[in-house]
Amino acid sequence: MQKLLINGKKELSGKISISGSKNATLPILAATILSDKAKLTNIPLVKDIFTMVELLKFIGLKVNISKDKNTIEIENINKNIKTLAPYKLVKTMRAGVLVLGPLLAKYKKAKISLPGGCAIGTRPVNLHLFALKKFGAKIKIKNGYIIAETRDGLKGANVTFPNISVGATENAVLAAFNANGKTILNNCAIEPEVKDLIKFLNKLGGRIKIVGRKILITGCKKIKKNITHEVIFDRIELGTYMIAAALVGKKVIFNKIDPRVIKNEIRTLKKMGVKLQIQKSTIEIYKSNNIKKISISTKPYPGFPTDLQAQLMVLMTRAQGTSKIKESIFENRFMHVPELKRMGANIEIKNKIAIIKGPSKLTGAEVMATDLRASVSLVLAGLVADNRTIINRIYHLDRGYEFLEKKLKNCKARIKRI
Ligand code: UD1
Repeated sequence: MQKLLINGKKELSGKISISGSKNATLPILAATILSDKAKLTNIPLVKDIFTMVELLKFIGLKVNISKDKNTIEIENINKNIKTLAPYKLVKTMRAGVLVLGPLLAKYKKAKISLPGGCAIGTRPVNLHLFALKKFGAKIKIKNGYIIAETRDGLKGANVTFPNISVGATENAVLAAFNANGKTILNNCAIEPEVKDLIKFLNKLGGRIKIVGRKILITGCKKIKKNITHEVIFDRIELGTYMIAAALVGKKVIFNKIDPRVIKNEIRTLKKMGVKLQIQKSTIEIYKSNNIKKISISTKPYPGFPTDLQAQLMVLMTRAQGTSKIKESIFENRFMHVPELKRMGANIEIKNKIAIIKGPSKLTGAEVMATDLRASVSLVLAGLVADNRTIINRIYHLDRGYEFLEKKLKNCKARIKRI
């Protein structure tokens, strides 16, 4: 099994290029089921994307990935489409459930494996099904599968989500794209990745508008052929490397990004005393010595992202005083805490709040990755720790970080995979 070795305390300097967003690419790939032919550019070459591509191929789409150009071309010309997402493909990547909306909308039926729980929580799909039922779908759960059908096609409806969910919003938008009549979705997730999906669907002929947390959809009349879409940059990857730069950077530059997308993250880092300079499409981070304590709570966008909580915690271990993180999205997202404690961090968890007493001196240790973002927080801890850190189970990292070692090595980090 592969491991990462990191010799910490090396200052980072140079440029880090940010890949396309995994969490935007996944729903857009699901959306290509609704298209005839589409080309996506700025695709991150990470494991979850390959799994989604496997799923689309299994369903019957023709998919061509160009690894040199980071593009994917998709053609949906097969007459024998399978409206099925099997367990083996959904269990490793929960976003597989996003094919439910488009399959049901286009082929009037779908059988999708229930994704089950994962390390960070139970992760139910009740909100996805709640919206689809409002559009007239008949849904039952049998032998671990969601079995959905609609005899006369989906019909637009007024849906108010009881809680905000990124995946449920995306599945509902995908299902309502060409439903008969008008749809109003209330209390939606408005993450940049949801907006990117809507941008793609509008290129495809959709008539979708976002107003605050409402999404208004008028059923699409005519699908446009041969569309091209450039996927938005990965704001979580950017946030992760910005924190790396705040921890051990001398001067690290990020180009071709839009700082407006990560306003909250920038505000948080500034409050912590991180030295950064922002331009229209560039962020530069400089050596920051006096890191200050802060308390944050994870929230749906535009709040502070749960996907960046573990990484920020590493920076908090360097801060003067006591910082706090309240995790309000997932019930079990502090799996990185015991591993960070083994590296010398002083962290206590009370209810859903992590209390981080700083500054602590981190020292290298052999640690275990548990999920995607927890793993990368251990990489950040390894970069700032004394001596050598060995990270096991790094397949979690490969699900979502493209060329991680290469990007860090380019900035002089001492990191290698064995
Ligand atoms: C997406 C992201 C993930 C991120 C999360 C929250 C992708 C592929 N993944 O996951 O990286 O951490 O948003 O920003 O984009 N919930 C229900 N019922 C449902 C659906 C969700 O109760 O039917 C709950 C979840 O358990 C969780 C909360 O709602 O507590 C938010 O989850 P959700 O926004 O749906 O996360 P995902 O779309 O799975």
